Amino acid sequence: MKKIEIIKPDDFHVHLRQDELLELTVGHCSESFCRAIVMPNTIPPIASVETINEYKEKIEFFNSEFKPLMTFKLLKSLTADDIIAMQEAGALAGKLYPAGSTTNSSDGIKDWREIAHLLTVMSDVGLVLSIHGEDPSVFSLDREKAFIPQILEISGEFPQLKIVFEHLSSAEGIAAVENGPENLVGTITVQHLLLTLDDIIGGSLNPHSFCKPVLKRPEDRDAIERVVLKGNRKFFFGSDSAPHKITNKENSCGSAGCYTSPVALPLLVDFFDKQDKIELLEGFVSHYGADFYGLEYNREKITLVKESWKVPDEYSGVKSLYAGKTIDWKIG
Ligand code: NCD
Ligand code: ZN
Repeated sequence: MKKIEIIKPDDFHVHLRQDELLELTVGHCSESFCRAIVMPNTIPPIASVETINEYKEKIEFFNSEFKPLMTFKLLKSLTADDIIAMQEAGALAGKLYPAGSTTNSSDGIKDWREIAHLLTVMSDVGLVLSIHGEDPSVFSLDREKAFIPQILEISGEFPQLKIVFEHLSSAEGIAAVENGPENLVGTITVQHLLLTLDDIIGGSLNPHSFCKPVLKRPEDRDAIERVVLKGNRKFFFGSDSAPHKITNKENSCGSAGCYTSPVALPLLVDFFDKQDKIELLEGFVSHYGADFYGLEYNREKITLVKESWKVPDEYSGVKSLYAGKTIDWKIG
């Protein structure tokens, strides 16, 4: 049987949610990942020392070995002192959600200049700026492309600021990072690496593959695949695993977000194996992101084995990506 052992990975973009979903998400996330950059778009948002500490404690309650890497949501109401205090409380990144761009972002930022004074502080103290790079005012497939000028403006204005263009979905977004400054990097999800818009609307409607930014054309997926298969260190794994209850996905106003924590690592090893590039997996999931965030590599290892398994139809009222399908690799 084919198997591979690598440093246990990190997930550099995950939504662990709150309340009754937390046990499920922490359980799945910690099976595959030692650490995860935890997104702050909860209700209320994670945007203060108190909410950071409280959320971290709740996550650690379900697995004390798992290391949540905390972030805060950038709000217009924050002050420079708030930013410094949140960093002292352990936050590694601040997340910029353009207002109205995705789930729980109505309190987001209308124009980055509104928070330029906060970005100055973040740059000075070495906090990472994580960006949901979409302009929600334009046609859905063009939203990422339309946001690129703003990302380049920010990185031009703050040359020392470390910036992550999250969940890249377009050839243009990939090119912007590839050709952009050294400190501009991008995360890549398993759904944007493997799927296209046809996996949502090409046959019968599949709301469980629907996320923001929406999956795009084969050319876009090819561009994502190309940089990953080059082993380009500016691109690393961030699942954007974002569970919603089946009842919130399968209705006339379905929520955006794919639940991928239980399937992401098996799908990634399968992807690299099928491309005959299995040696590139460890860099993508265990090295490049840690290097960018200035973190040590994890000591723990994980074994992946080539053995087929059927993804359950649902996990506690949530359907994951590839639910009911067979994946050829599993966690050993
Ligand atoms: C995420 C969510 O549900 O919180 N949804 C999504 O479609 N990716 C938010 C986000 O990262 O955009
Ligand atoms: Zn996300």
